[in-house]
Amino acid sequence: MTEVTIDAARAAFREAFGGPPAVVARAPGRVNLIGEHTDYSLLPVLPMAIARALLVAAAPIDGPAIEARSAAFAGTIALDRQHPEHVSGWARYLAGALRELADIAPGKGARIFVSGDLPATGGLSSSSALTVGIMAALAQAWGMPLTPDHLVTRAIRAERHVGVESGGMDQAIIVHARAGSALRIDFAPAAQHSIPIPPGLSFVVASSAEEAPKGGSARDAYNQRVIGARLAAAMLCDQVGLEIAHPPYLSHVAGVDVVDLLVDDLPEKISAIEVAHGIDADVSMLVRLTADTWDGRAKIPVKRVARHILSEAARVDAAEAALAAADLKAFGDILNESHNSLREDLRCSTAGLDKLCAAMRKAGAFGARLTGAGFGGFALAAVPPEHVAAVIAAAEAVSTGPAFEVDASEGLTLA
Ligand code: GLA
Repeated sequence: MTEVTIDAARAAFREAFGGPPAVVARAPGRVNLIGEHTDYSLLPVLPMAIARALLVAAAPIDGPAIEARSAAFAGTIALDRQHPEHVSGWARYLAGALRELADIAPGKGARIFVSGDLPATGGLSSSSALTVGIMAALAQAWGMPLTPDHLVTRAIRAERHVGVESGGMDQAIIVHARAGSALRIDFAPAAQHSIPIPPGLSFVVASSAEEAPKGGSARDAYNQRVIGARLAAAMLCDQVGLEIAHPPYLSHVAGVDVVDLLVDDLPEKISAIEVAHGIDADVSMLVRLTADTWDGRAKIPVKRVARHILSEAARVDAAEAALAAADLKAFGDILNESHNSLREDLRCSTAGLDKLCAAMRKAGAFGARLTGAGFGGFALAAVPPEHVAAVIAAAEAVSTGPAFEVDASEGLTLA
């Protein structure tokens, strides 16, 4: 795929609508180095933006009409801004974005054209790039640009309307990324700091060719982990005598000395109704999702979900220390441990992702793991620069999906 430039995005808009756009937002994809399935427990992540991006060109029009086209999909989406219901496909992200922009220039509509070179198969955050890009472009086109922090908060909510109760990693890295560095993001309390990528460390991503769109088949599997983490947090807070927040997060107990022992005593599976009963709490705070309600009677895994999340948070600290010391062998080992934990405990790997990781390690990577939500999508390898070509070839030999090198790139820009 060739890089889509701002000029090309402008030209595509002009061809589609017969006039120039007022603004082009360039929202990159991201790859998460470590800290997988931790953000929804308010535990840290360490992602970086990549050079592949979605470009959202937009021009304001009078009245509530939204007309949207995409280089990747045929047809025009026509929506009434005030009532963007009953939509499917990528229009769901547009509708979620419009919902979270309802207070901005309510009398205005827009024409939108989306292009770019970011694969939409899951794992590199194309859905968040789309949502952030649409929101940034529209707010700018309507003359009321959002601050970066407001954009992140609104984009998180916009995507949750689509049905995945995701954490805040993707939107935060897309907006705040800086070229040359990964970003450690903490959620409670909120903090961010740049982690420069040391010399001698390159990254390759490889698709398993199994689609894992967050808004599609992977949605229930993902939400089950979110609820499992909540149930574990509620039981652990109760055991150590901490107040149970609404909803409870594993971050509340992550610093407790004996937490690992307490996790070992959690049940393998339990339902939200049973947990609520056991701790004398209202089940609604355990099962409430932005777009839906989780089935409180379903028995779901909690012990191994908590074990993955708490151990993964510790791996973020260890990985940060390894990068600071430029200990790339240690860094690679931590990626491998993360993958094992995602496979055995969180259970979001697939045979295709396991095969990719094994092949890339064998071809000379320091380490490899699935990246993003899993259930298909992409794997990431940390690679000595001289082995990049061999690692890409090894990935291509075991999967029909694309494999390519990625560099830590700049976050959202508006032109
Ligand atoms: C998806 C979600 C993120 C995060 C990752 C897993 O990408 O959107 O919030 O939970 O999965 O780390």
